[in-house]
Amino acid sequence: MIVLGVETTCDETAVSVVRDGRDILSAVTATQMVHAEFGGVVPEVAARAHLETLPALHEKALSESGIPEDAIEGVAVAAGPGLLGALLVGVSWAKGYARARGLPAIGVSHLEGHLFANRLAYPDLEPPFVALVVSGGHTLLAWVREWGDYVGLGQTRDDACGEAFDKVAKLLGLVYPGGPAVSLAADRGRPDAIRFPRGMRRQANFDFSYSGLKTAVALHVSAHPKLDLAERADIAASFQEAAVEILVEKSLLACAQLGVSRLAVGGGVAANRRLRELLVDAERKRSIEAFYPPPALCTDNAAMIAAVGDFYLSLGACSGPGLAAVAVWPLWPAGKVFPWADPSRKLD
Ligand code: KG4
Ligand code: ZN
Repeated sequence: MIVLGVETTCDETAVSVVRDGRDILSAVTATQMVHAEFGGVVPEVAARAHLETLPALHEKALSESGIPEDAIEGVAVAAGPGLLGALLVGVSWAKGYARARGLPAIGVSHLEGHLFANRLAYPDLEPPFVALVVSGGHTLLAWVREWGDYVGLGQTRDDACGEAFDKVAKLLGLVYPGGPAVSLAADRGRPDAIRFPRGMRRQANFDFSYSGLKTAVALHVSAHPKLDLAERADIAASFQEAAVEILVEKSLLACAQLGVSRLAVGGGVAANRRLRELLVDAERKRSIEAFYPPPALCTDNAAMIAAVGDFYLSLGACSGPGLAAVAVWPLWPAGKVFPWADPSRKLD
């Protein structure tokens, strides 16, 4: 099946054409740099930018795919979670295009897209595995029993990991978007220069917390008003170490608890070089196999959305005219959580 995917959940506008859920024929992404001057994504500005960019991007994805337009057999759109105005642009576009061409359309979860990026990158990857989705909006661990069947293990209690990267970038006066900038600065710093807190390390569940780490960096910066370049690099490296170390630690704990040997990572922060180093380390030291897509498939893209769409459309699912944007859309259904996700559990 050849599926056209559309992604407009936040500040990336993306369109992609994917064959059989695994073969990317084209993938175009435009990042909205217009938010740089505000230091963060402005929802209304994002929606308008999607509206301006989408038509040309759609044409580009079609022409770069090298297939005739009538070879497209289905349309998939990230219908949530995300910014409502931004979502509405992509959903309306996908619905309109599908209707005009008489194609089935399906709204899919952006978070499931981040999981499916691994299926694109590793066509032979099959569940069960533990999935870590770590982005600007989410930080969660799920047990993927089958494609489409997810059990919640844990998630952040407050800020997302990527959000913390963006905030620290701002504190250090680095450019937007913050994650890659902090990572670059960290390359020149010492990860053990400052001991920042690892959120929820002592709790024997799979939840995360980044607000304490964020505050610790803010306090450190305000206590040292005249930071030179080397000191900023040390802060970036020490923050990054704390931020990604706990991700790997909790992911490995989840693998051990479930007796699962495969760990798949997705979302923008999965592009982080230090995180990937720690995963390689874990592979060497423990008997786990780590999967992490190339950076372009970690950050928001439409190929992952087309891949999810292919999966469900191939099963005969279709959203129909009721396809709507869903701002809040959890990855796992209510109640489908592993007992260890119980927040009252604490280490003795
Ligand atoms: O998945 P994504 O593109 O969008 C969301 O679904 O949120 O993730 C974006 C987040 C941002 O917070 C960005 O700063 C972070 O991913 N990010 C990174 C890196 N590249 C992107 N964080 C750390 N290191 C990176 N190399
Ligand atoms: Zn994302």
